[in-house]
Amino acid sequence: MNVPQIVAMKDKEKISMLTAYDYTSARIADEAGIDIILVGDSLGMVMQGKTSTIPVTVDEMIYHAKMVKQGTKNALIVVDMPFMSYQADYVEAVKNAGKIMKETGCDAVKLEGGREFAVTINAIVSAGIPVMGHLGLTPQSINIFGSYKARGKNEKEAKKIIEDAKYIQEAGVFSIVLESVPKNLAKKVTQSVSVPTIGIGAGVHTDGQVLVFHDMLGLFDDFKPKFVKRYAHLKKEAVEAVKTYTKEVKEGSFPTDEHSYE
Ligand code: KIV
Repeated sequence: MNVPQIVAMKDKEKISMLTAYDYTSARIADEAGIDIILVGDSLGMVMQGKTSTIPVTVDEMIYHAKMVKQGTKNALIVVDMPFMSYQADYVEAVKNAGKIMKETGCDAVKLEGGREFAVTINAIVSAGIPVMGHLGLTPQSINIFGSYKARGKNEKEAKKIIEDAKYIQEAGVFSIVLESVPKNLAKKVTQSVSVPTIGIGAGVHTDGQVLVFHDMLGLFDDFKPKFVKRYAHLKKEAVEAVKTYTKEVKEGSFPTDEHSYE
């Protein structure tokens, strides 16, 4: 998968995107035929146990992206630019995007924000680095929003999201994540831009969908946003398996000869 192939999928085929944070999760996603793997800064929550994405660093993103690259053969790999790696000024943003690309071998970066980041997006794209945008609920701004509630529910916010989508398209993004917005707003944004939109909690009308690996497999159950569909319940299964293992160790029924050397 490459960026032009993803762009060409708009209006032809829905785009599937899933996060992954290491070799094993990337192999699972890639072998299953996912179009795009996102090394999301959501790793701050599902891998590091933090309460937001704010503390995640560029070096941590690079560490995880390198492992994802090792496990991926076909999918396009997009790496999140973490909080404060692009907000202060566009020169620093280009340098951090370049560092991520050089050290991980991944294909593109993603950053959150609209019109106010158009110059930054343009500078990164001009350096030869594809950028995915991210509008609606932008978790790196949690301290401004105060909650992870849906965005764009009033006319003013909805108008800004549509305008922002046009601004960042003009700046050069190759696709836009729309997070936690009403489905009709997501439809309007999707119709307003020529690049694919990828929704998470944005309804069915976007050009693609993204979910967090640990959410959709039921590995992370600290909380469950309304938009998460659990396709498996792996944490429950894992806890049961570990319980059985502990019991067998204690009663001496593991290991048997099958798992022992002569
Ligand atoms: O970090 C992440 O996982 C994301 C998705 C929610 C789109 O940005």
